[in-house]
Formats: sequence, structure tokens, C-alpha cells
Amino acid sequence: MSNKALNIGDQFPNFEAQTNVGRIDFYDWMADSWAILFSHPADFTPVCTTELARVAQLMPEFLKRGVKPIALSCDTAESHNAWIEDIKSYAKLSSFNYPIIADNKRELAVKLNMLDKDELSAEGIPLTCRAVFVIDNKKKLRLSILYPATTGRNFDEILRVVDSLQLTQTKSVATPADWKQGGQCMVLPSVQAVDVPKLFPKGIETIEVPSGKSYLRITAQPQI
Ligand code: BEZ
Repeated sequence: MSNKALNIGDQFPNFEAQTNVGRIDFYDWMADSWAILFSHPADFTPVCTTELARVAQLMPEFLKRGVKPIALSCDTAESHNAWIEDIKSYAKLSSFNYPIIADNKRELAVKLNMLDKDELSAEGIPLTCRAVFVIDNKKKLRLSILYPATTGRNFDEILRVVDSLQLTQTKSVATPADWKQGGQCMVLPSVQAVDVPKLFPKGIETIEVPSGKSYLRITAQPQI
């Protein structure tokens, strides 16, 4: 596995790792699902606790979309299992049902470029940032976002992006700013006017702009 930055569209590298529920081969664990891999600086830290709790609460939403979450934190599997009891207590969860990778040697953090040079551990070592990788069922990287250790993620936004990725991979649309499931979409710039009736039988609306160019083409969200 190389540690060059991964780009959207790259094959996401396979890896083996220890987790709180045993050793996994990442590809085998994914099977035919999509995955979201999200990393954390350390166990028993406040923002991370809120994030892992939020993902546990959102599990039905991830599973509805065929996405399996997996977290990573730079501590041991034993530490993760102890921390999970705190997360369950904090969020009043009866169970916690996704794995946490034990990257206590920071091997994956280095290989996947997930270090935050501005946040150092007590020993002066860079902490793992809050990376988000969305990987599709072909093991291709579809989204990557890096947040600093001091900013917790908005997982409703991650679900919104998954909805957009899953819609736009089969339909000739892109989703505009602040789009949500069911909202109006933009016709892809690559769609020729001649193909519009076939692709969008319900029609489209073209917004007039001073340039006179017909690129702002709106349509109802196509059914997947
Ligand atoms: C936190 O999870 O609260 C946290 C961890 C490392 C640095 C800053 C915040």
C-alpha cells in the first residue's frame, strides 16, 4: 500500500487490521456493500465520542443506503471496547454495531494520509485527523474529506452526499447547493438538447441568464 494521497475514482487500497471485534480484511468485510471509513484522533475524547454515538444512531440510515460504517482510532482494541461502553452510556444506546479499527501504531493513519500536523499528542506525535472516505461497492473512492481534530463532522451531510453519489451515478443529473433527497436537480452540462426529451420525459426548465447561455437546466429528481 502506498501513502500517496488518494484521489476520487482511485481504487481504495485493501488492508488487514485489528478491530474491537477481531481481525478483518477490509475488502472481505465490505463484501458487496459501500463503506464509510471515518477516523479519529483517540479514544476517550469528547468530540469523537459524540461522533461515534451519532453514527450508531444513524445506522439504519446507512444500512438503508447499503453503506457499512467503520471507524478508526489510534488506540488498542481493548481500549475501544472500554470506550464503547462510554459511547453507549452517553447516547443511551442498547448496542453498538459497527467496528472500530485499532490503529494504535498509526500504520493506517500514515498510509492513508490521515494525520493532522497541527494537533499533537502528549508525546508530540501528530494525531489522526477526522478523515471521511466513502468507498463504493466496486472498492472505488467516491468521496474524501479531511476535518481537523477540533471540528466534529456532520453525518447528516455525509448521508446527503451518499444520496447524491448514488443518484448521479446512474442518472444524467448533478445535485445543486443544499440539495436534499427529493429536491430538484440540475441537468448535466454534457446532456445535448436533442437528448433531453428521452432522458427527461417529464421535462426540464431552463433558467435565463444574462450570458444567454442555456446551462442552468433544472429537472425534478429522477427515480433511481
Ligand atoms: C476530541 O475528540 O474532543 C478531540 C480529540 C483530539 C483533539 C481535539 C479534540
